[in-house]
Amino acid sequence: MSDTTNRGSAGPVLSVRDLKLHYFTSKGVVRALDGISFDLRPGETMGLVGESGCGKTTTGVALLNMPSPPGRIVSGSIRIDGTEIVGLPERELRKSVRWTKVSMVFQGAMNCLTPVYTIRQLMLETYREHAGPGAAEAAAEPLMRKYASLVGLPANVLDRYPHELSGGMKQRVVIAMALFLEPKVIVMDEPTTALDVIVQAQILNLVKELKRDLGLSYIFITHDLATEAEIADKIMVMYAGKMAELGSSEDIFGPEPGGSPAGGGPRRGPAHPYTQKLLASTPRLRARVSELAFIPGSPPDLVEPPAGCRFAPRCGFAKARCRASEPPVAELAEGHLVACWKAMEDPEYERS
Ligand SMILES: Nc1ncnc2c1ncn2[C@@H]1O[C@H](COP(=O)(O)OP(=O)(O)O)[C@@H](O)[C@H]1O
Ligand SMILES: [Mg+2]
Repeated sequence: MSDTTNRGSAGPVLSVRDLKLHYFTSKGVVRALDGISFDLRPGETMGLVGESGCGKTTTGVALLNMPSPPGRIVSGSIRIDGTEIVGLPERELRKSVRWTKVSMVFQGAMNCLTPVYTIRQLMLETYREHAGPGAAEAAAEPLMRKYASLVGLPANVLDRYPHELSGGMKQRVVIAMALFLEPKVIVMDEPTTALDVIVQAQILNLVKELKRDLGLSYIFITHDLATEAEIADKIMVMYAGKMAELGSSEDIFGPEPGGSPAGGGPRRGPAHPYTQKLLASTPRLRARVSELAFIPGSPPDLVEPPAGCRFAPRCGFAKARCRASEPPVAELAEGHLVACWKAMEDPEYERS
């Protein structure tokens, strides 16, 4: 079978290596993103989870090389569709990377749509800024109509103002704006968080349909593991600016209840104590409310993160070595990576 017929063996559309983005504040350097690496294949969705403040949004904006001040990418590599974007000048990023190669649905963007412009005017502004020098404005109209329709909006939405739309419609507009220049990779930062539960489900279904019908490649950010279970092919669990664990949905969530690995293969399930705690504190997936766990303490200060494993101060398994030296990233099984001394040395230790 040739490579092109097997999506699983297609080259990555996005490759990130040892990426660091720090904020240079008056209180010191916030190491918000401190060396993460991953690949995203065409058509794949990678979920990004972790508690608030662990660096999810920072990772998203880093992928557009668009840090908010006083942030800066300090090292590492981001290749999107064959182009290295770390080090590209701002003008180049605006004209030939952002929105055409990678776009983002920003957290809360639906509430920031400029009220005095119609949706058409807002989309045209994005088009002018990003479609590239030779792009004819006439080409924008069919694209805007196509993507409005694909996200389930009526054609006349282009003539309306943001305040005339419901929350769900505004979120559809924001998603259409992220899609209509047909980027290779779309970052979605908590796209359902600000919506009521019915609309949340509708937007999540829309994201799934677009993935299926258009073969989109997503980075899907949420603090909610139950949402990732719905959408992600693989999941990166972040803690304090680092990758704690990366694996397929099955690696992270474990086998289906009652199921065991086919052919007696390696045992699956979350390997990092932080992932296990996150799962145990996620209501819909694992536990009745009376059994819900919580993670004592809070994530560390990223100006002076703890030595060794950053999770050690909150980890029930931590030993002297965990506090002294940082665990390397180990591959437990193909595609299942973990940064934890205990998980590395004792792969069969109790996984919840
Ligand atoms: N513009 C900024 N200036 C300074 N620190 C920031 C800025 N943006 C984020 N941070 C810090 O970076 C860390 C990661 O934040 P963020 O990426 O927003 O996390 P998450 O999206 O996972 O909640 C936090 O400690 C946060 O306070
Ligand atoms: Mg965030």
